[in-house]
Amino acid sequence: MIKRHYKILIAAGMTFSFFGFVMNKKSNANMEVLKITPIEQRVDSLLEKMTLDEKVGQMNLYNGFWDVTGPTPKEGSAKLKYEHLRKGWVGAMLSVRGAENVKEVQRIAVEETRLGIPLLIGFDVIHGYKTLSPIPLAESASWDLEAIEKSARVAATEASAAGINWTFAPMVDISRDPRWGRVMEGGGEDPYLGSKIARARVQGFQGDDLSDKHSIAACAKHFAAYGFSEAGKEYNSVDIGTSTLYNTVLPPFKAAADSGVKTFMNSFNELNGIPVTGSEFLQRDILKGAWNFEGFVVSDWASINELIFWGHAKDKRQAAIIASKAGSDLDMEGYVYIRELVQLVEDGIVAESVIDDAVRRILKVKFELGLFDNPYIYCDSETEKAVIGKAEHHEAVLDVAKKSIVLLKNEQNLLPLQKKGQKIALIGPLAADKNSPLGSWRIASDDNTAVSVLEGMKKYTGNTLIHEKGVDLVDGHAAFIEEVVLNTTNRDGMKEAVAAAKTADVVVMVLGEHGFQSGEARSRTELDLPGLQQELLEAVYAVNKNIVLVLNNGRPLAIEWAAEHIPAIVEGWQLGTQSGNAIAQVLYGDYNPSGKLPMTFPRNVGQIPIYYNHKSTGRPTNDNDNVFWSHYIDKENTPLWVFGHGLSYTTFEYKNFKVHGDKFSIGDNIKVTVDITNTGNYDGKEVVQLYIRDLFGSITRPVKELKGFELVHFKKGETKTIEFMLTNKELGFYNNQGKYMVEAGDFEVFVGGSSDTKLKDTFTLNY
Ligand code: BGC
Repeated sequence: MIKRHYKILIAAGMTFSFFGFVMNKKSNANMEVLKITPIEQRVDSLLEKMTLDEKVGQMNLYNGFWDVTGPTPKEGSAKLKYEHLRKGWVGAMLSVRGAENVKEVQRIAVEETRLGIPLLIGFDVIHGYKTLSPIPLAESASWDLEAIEKSARVAATEASAAGINWTFAPMVDISRDPRWGRVMEGGGEDPYLGSKIARARVQGFQGDDLSDKHSIAACAKHFAAYGFSEAGKEYNSVDIGTSTLYNTVLPPFKAAADSGVKTFMNSFNELNGIPVTGSEFLQRDILKGAWNFEGFVVSDWASINELIFWGHAKDKRQAAIIASKAGSDLDMEGYVYIRELVQLVEDGIVAESVIDDAVRRILKVKFELGLFDNPYIYCDSETEKAVIGKAEHHEAVLDVAKKSIVLLKNEQNLLPLQKKGQKIALIGPLAADKNSPLGSWRIASDDNTAVSVLEGMKKYTGNTLIHEKGVDLVDGHAAFIEEVVLNTTNRDGMKEAVAAAKTADVVVMVLGEHGFQSGEARSRTELDLPGLQQELLEAVYAVNKNIVLVLNNGRPLAIEWAAEHIPAIVEGWQLGTQSGNAIAQVLYGDYNPSGKLPMTFPRNVGQIPIYYNHKSTGRPTNDNDNVFWSHYIDKENTPLWVFGHGLSYTTFEYKNFKVHGDKFSIGDNIKVTVDITNTGNYDGKEVVQLYIRDLFGSITRPVKELKGFELVHFKKGETKTIEFMLTNKELGFYNNQGKYMVEAGDFEVFVGGSSDTKLKDTFTLNY
């Protein structure tokens, strides 16, 4: 009965949108009942019709039939997946893409199963679908929330045209460890910036109306603390205190939840002894309890099954009990729920209410996406052809790519390059690479579709450009852990590169990591330039010191020699499809860079974890000139480049910084202003950053915490007054019970263009 009803809805999709419009204008008593009943009631009435098998089926997520993003489980044959689809035992699929392919699986779910419940179609739309934006870490360096939101919007528009209705993004894991390859997927090291970015990305993916055919459901991942994997090693244990959990790890997740993100994904790590997929504390107490999150939680790839390998569950049966009770609603490629849950409910071990709660959450998102009204809303090949790769998408990703570039160093004003009369040697294994700039997590994009730096620079025809690769850089795709693969020994091109450099006015070297050397399962123990690149850099430097080093990398690198010797360094990350155009425009000064690092760059691996918002320690300085203070004996405490660092072709002067008042009461709004002048020769943008230090607290506070920022454009010579407001929201912290509190005390406030700004004022906060 219900099945027929839904089919009628599909056929009459157009009419119902019209009714929807009328409904807004005036109430119509005769209107179709399902359309006007709130989603919760539609969910409940469907749930009543479902058998236990069908309910558990909704909690089952299968990978599609080709792209694989995790270890392939023995159980997962295509035959079995189709069989389960037809029985209504599959609630969602991932990595099925293309309007026609999605339509086919959706058709089976809607037309061949008893209840015709449509599928969620998930995909890792991490930084674009086919037209790629910069990797998320790079985009975060823009500090440009509008551009970040727009980039997610472009991604959603293309992905939805290819049949996808759910992305496994944004990743909002804070991390302080660049050895961990997945830092490329996130917003960096800071919870405040990370929270703003989380909100922008959720908004970009989901838009204002989830049922719009260009909006897709977002997924905040990986809940939680995956970014703190011990020693930066992938899939490792996490052991952190409650203060770090509440104040550093959770805020971006909370921001995503508060922004209405529809789904969460848990993670592969354990947290303080409990694999998070089985963590009731995280999923039930915090997420669904304290935060009142009404969406669902998807496991990570087979992470329910992995409870066994963690030594937390004896077998699949126990894994199913633990994960379902803990609040993991949907089993991704784990084959655990589908195998165990029905029996567990029949045996009275898992309460049916646990299943009902999970299914309700999953169905609710399907209703919100409009899939019951039209399950094929995302499956139109004509739209797919028209939308994917549109010129305006290329413009948007070029725009955000330029904004993501960080000028790390620019001595002797080597940059911008002159447009005429120079001989430029372009050297390095990544200079002509059209694949690597696409970065990791780019499953739907076509290989070799990025604009290379060589192609970008060729557009500037006033100079002579010679190109030499120098050495090879191995595609990290094959280089899972084999050191030998990372370290190619072929020096054949070195001589030509050095010869080219010798005769050049300026050498532009494009070095770094291949796009597949960061990302999932790409942890590294060294953060140098892989292979023979350092040797190449030094060989070129020996004959020509006028080097502009353009870095392409998915994580902070420890390149102390380069930072010391090379006069100009540009952080060019992996910038996606328009990479080379963005880099060339910055090198030639057609775009004045304004990016700021979202993550600290260490001097060497031994300093890790190194981050700006660390604690003071009891022995922060060597004032008395003795050895017993917090430091290393072989390396300074400072990093290579601090969080928030980034230069411009122009310069900014900060003046008249003040907190308006000395004494305040908790709850007051505290006004802070500063005058900033563009004192250089170019128009340009500055990310004005506001930090606080709470000088003493019942829980020790970091030496600096970002609490505000504004991206401001200044014309040459222009002065602007920038105002910030500090409120309870910025001045408090979570105690070890997870309670937010604001304490009286003395505060320092800093403002500047990076986290090591010394421009300071103070105030006292009273009860
Ligand atoms: C990753 C997730 C991803 C999932 C599906 C897992 O290996 O950890 O981030 O969404 O695969 O591709």
